[in-house]
Amino acid sequence: MNTNIIANNDNNFSKNILILGGADGIGFAISKVYEKLNYNIYVTSRNKHKDSNNIKYFILEATKENSWLDLKEKFNKDNIVFDIILNTIGILHDEVNNIYPEKSIKNMDINFFMKNMEINSLVSALCIKHMIEFISKNNRTVIASLTARLGSISDNNIGGWLSYRASKAAQHMIIKTASIELSRNYNNLIIIGLHPGTVSTKLSKPYIKSAKNVFEPKYSARKLVSVIEKLDYTSTGKVFDYSGKIIPY
Ligand SMILES: NC(=O)c1ccc[n+]([C@@H]2O[C@H](COP(=O)([O-])OP(=O)(O)OC[C@H]3O[C@@H](n4cnc5c(N)ncnc54)[C@H](OP(=O)(O)O)[C@@H]3O)[C@@H](O)[C@H]2O)c1
Repeated sequence: MNTNIIANNDNNFSKNILILGGADGIGFAISKVYEKLNYNIYVTSRNKHKDSNNIKYFILEATKENSWLDLKEKFNKDNIVFDIILNTIGILHDEVNNIYPEKSIKNMDINFFMKNMEINSLVSALCIKHMIEFISKNNRTVIASLTARLGSISDNNIGGWLSYRASKAAQHMIIKTASIELSRNYNNLIIIGLHPGTVSTKLSKPYIKSAKNVFEPKYSARKLVSVIEKLDYTSTGKVFDYSGKIIPY
């Protein structure tokens, strides 16, 4: 029997957060902040991890519908209701195939483009599609996806990194579109995008040597949690940076 769930059902102060891709990088740092806030933490990863204290791990291949159905079966058994659902899954390069973001459209590779769309955009849509069953209509709920300022069309002044930019712009459209539709039935649901800043993780490692203002994951995580905590119903459908400023589409 899952004692975390019992604690949650019996104790109004104990909230549940789901972090997709939360075994590493910014997602992991965010899980540590919510652990200190006494949340029950549910993390998905493609790989097996051992549960620890308040953190329970689940396997998810987030681009596969069947894997979502398996996950839902587990959450259904536990009657779980999430207060926060955070998608931190994303890619910028493909180390296995040695493909890095395009400096020119001439270098564009179809498989790399499609992989960016699949992991950075499609997963955000699948997350909302499947996890909407695990939120309450009465309680304030946040569904947030880590995105990037680079996905802003109006803020794009230097070009480059076509596949990543296109996939993050598509992610913004998914957030906006889902927020409009779901606000009709879920008055307390806030669906947003969050830009974490430039953060030292395996995703950013090849690019940050020359970057200014590189954050440690812990710092970015604390800033993002503080943004999440301040959101209200007027925030839905928007993209915010780590300091709470709106990023235009
Ligand atoms: N780091 C930055 O400077 C920065 C800047 C702007 C935006 N962001 C955004 O922030 C998010 C998190 O980035 P991060 O820096 O924390 O990266 P990260 O350390 O590489 O973590 C990303 C997570 O995505 C999951 N993932 C990677 N490839 C996947 C795949 N093919 N299929 C399914 N899941 C996959 C991994 O989970 P498992 O391996 O456990 O499955 C991993 O934990 C991304 O959306 C990124 O675009 C980051």
